[in-house]
Amino acid sequence: MSTPLNTEQQLAAADGVVEYLAAHEKKSMLRFITCGSVDDGKSTLIGRLLYDSKQLYDDQVSALESDTKKHGTQGEKIDFALLVDGLAAEREQGITIDVAYRFFSTEKRKFIVADTPGHEQYTRNMATGASTADLAIILIDARKGVLTQTRRHSYIVSLLGIRHVVIAINKMDLVDYSENTYDKIEADYRKFAKDLGFETITCIPMSALDGVNITKKSSETPWHNGSALLPYLETIKVRSTLADKAFRFPVQWVNRPNLDFRGFSGTIVSGSVKPGDDIVVLPSAKRSKVKSIVTMDGEFDEAGPDMAVTVTLEDEIDISRGDIICAGNAPAEQTDQFAAHILWMSEEKLFPGRQYLLKTANRIIPATVTELKHKVNVNSLEHMSGKTLELNEVGYCNLNLAQPIAFDPYKNNRRTGAFILIDKRTNATIGAGMIDFSLRRAQNVHWQDLDVNKGVRASAKHQRPCILWFTGLSGSGKSTVANLVEKRLHDMGRHTYTLDGDNVRHGLNKDLGFTDADRVENIRRVGETAKLMVDAGLVVLVSFISPFQGERRMARELVGDGEFIEVFISTPLEVCEQRDVKGLYARARRGEIKNFTGIDSAYEAPQHAEINVDTSHMPAADAADRIVDYLQGNGYLEGR
Ligand code: ADX
Repeated sequence: MSTPLNTEQQLAAADGVVEYLAAHEKKSMLRFITCGSVDDGKSTLIGRLLYDSKQLYDDQVSALESDTKKHGTQGEKIDFALLVDGLAAEREQGITIDVAYRFFSTEKRKFIVADTPGHEQYTRNMATGASTADLAIILIDARKGVLTQTRRHSYIVSLLGIRHVVIAINKMDLVDYSENTYDKIEADYRKFAKDLGFETITCIPMSALDGVNITKKSSETPWHNGSALLPYLETIKVRSTLADKAFRFPVQWVNRPNLDFRGFSGTIVSGSVKPGDDIVVLPSAKRSKVKSIVTMDGEFDEAGPDMAVTVTLEDEIDISRGDIICAGNAPAEQTDQFAAHILWMSEEKLFPGRQYLLKTANRIIPATVTELKHKVNVNSLEHMSGKTLELNEVGYCNLNLAQPIAFDPYKNNRRTGAFILIDKRTNATIGAGMIDFSLRRAQNVHWQDLDVNKGVRASAKHQRPCILWFTGLSGSGKSTVANLVEKRLHDMGRHTYTLDGDNVRHGLNKDLGFTDADRVENIRRVGETAKLMVDAGLVVLVSFISPFQGERRMARELVGDGEFIEVFISTPLEVCEQRDVKGLYARARRGEIKNFTGIDSAYEAPQHAEINVDTSHMPAADAADRIVDYLQGNGYLEGR
C-alpha cells in the first residue's frame, strides 16, 4: 500500500497540476477537421499527429505495435490508422463511419480534431464536424489528384464557414516525391477553389505513413518552400469565433425553485455576458439588465460560449422556454421567410412545397421550401436549375416558416444561423441549412384581418364550411362520386365548389407535370385554394389523386379542426386499370406515359381517412349517399 501524501506534498503536487493546467490554459485552441476520400490516409495522418506529438502513452504504443502485427496493412511499419480507427466496425469494413473528436496538444497549442468519414453518403457527418471547425485539412492522394469528392468537401467546408484550408497532398512516397505531380495538383486545386472565399489555402506535400512533412520538414521534398503540417497548425492565426460574436442565450427552462428566485437556464451559444449588461428577449422584444449569472460553481462575473448558466434579470419580464436572450445593442433578427443554402442528406428527395420540421438553436417549427432557386454543381460551382435536391446536393432555397424565428445570418453567427430539417414522419435529420438573409417580403406583407370573415360568410350561407378531400388512383371513381355528392348538396341548397385535378391542371396548375415534385406543388396549391374557399364559407370538394400523405396532411392542417374530411376512394389498381376510362393505363403500360400513379409512381394510401369507399364493391350513387350521411350525422348540414 502506498503511503498517503502529507498536506505539504499534496499542496506541492497540486501546485504542479495548477501550473500545468495554467500553462495549457493560456495556449490557444485550434479546431480542425480532416476530410478526404476513402483511403486517402486520413486516419494514418491523425494517428501520426498524435504519435509524433507524443500524445500516446507507452501502453497505447505497445498495443499499437502488437495490433499492427495482427491487423496491419503496412507490413513492418506501424499502422497508425489502427490507432484512430478504433471502432470494430471500421476495421471490419475498412472504412471510418462516424465523426470522432480527438484532443491533443503541443508546447504551443491545443487541438480538437474532428475526424470525418470519407464515404460519399456520410456528408452529414462532415457537415457536423465542419460547423465548429476553424480550419480543414483536405487530403488528396498524390496518385489521384483533385477528385469530385475533394471539390464537394471543399465546397461544403466553405459553405459551413471555414476560411482556412490545408491541402494535404499525401502519399507523395508513391509518386517518388515528384515536384511536378505536386505542382499540378496544387495548380488544379487553386484554380477550382479561387471563388470559395478561403482566406488561406496552404498546400503541403507529405507522406503520413512515413512521417514526411508532418512534424518537421523532410529532406525528401527539398523543393517545398512551406513548412511541415504540425508547425503550420501551431502557428496559423484564425480569428477567434464564438466568443467575439454577439451574446445569444436560448432559454431551455425557467428556473423557479421558490418565489424569491427566477432564473433562466440554458447554454450560451455565442458571445459573453456580465452582470449589468443590457439584454433584449426575443420574440417579445422586452428589455432588461442582467442581475446575476449563477452556475453549479456559484456566481460568475462573466460567462461565455458553451457554458451552462442560469441568468437572473433586474426586471420581472415574461420569458419562456424557446425564447432567446440577446445582447441589448445587437439583437438577433426575426423572420418567417428567408433564403438559405441547404445541404440535402436524405435518400428521399427534397420537394419544394412539402412540409418539414425546421430545428434551430432553440425551436422546432414546421417549414416548407417555397422555391429552389438553384442547385450548385460541386465540380464547376456553377448554378443549375432543378426541381428537387437529391442526396448530398446543395441548393439555394427560399423557406417559409409557420412562425417567425430569431436568427442571425450564418456568415455572422454559425450557431444561430444554422438549422436542420427533420422528416415529420420518420424524425430523421434530412438536411442542414445555413441562413443567408431574411426575405424582406415577410416583414412587408401582413395578414389583413377582415371584418367580413369566415364566420360571417358561413352563417350568411347557413352552413358549416369544410373540405371533402377525395383521394385515390386515377380511375378509382373520385370525380364521379364527388360530382354526385355535389349535386345532392346543391339540391339541398348548399353552397359548394369542386376542384378537380383534370380541370385545375388546365388553368392554375397548367405549368405542372407528374414528377413527384410537381405533384407536391399541385397539391400545395390546391390545398391553399381550398382553404380560401372554406374561408369564403363554401363546402369544397377536392378530387385529386394526391398520392402523398405529407401533402394531404399539410392540406388538413391548413384549415381548422373538423374542417377537413378525407374520403379515400380505395378502388384497387386492377379494377381502375380494367376500367381504364381514359385509356391512360394502357398507354402507361406501353411506356408512353411516364410516372403514372400505381404503375411507376407511388400512391401512399391514407391510414386514417374519415370515409373509405371502394367503388368496385359499391355503386357510385351509394358511395355518394354514404358521404352525405356522414355530413349529416356529424352536424355539417345543420343550420337550416
Ligand atoms: S396528382 O397526383 O397531382 O394529384 P391529379 O389528380 O392532379 O394528380 O391529376 C391526375 C389526372 O391526370 C389523372 O386522372 C389522369 O387523367 C391524368 N394523368 C396524366 N398523366 C398522369 C400520370 N402520369 N399519373 C397520374 N395521372 C395522370
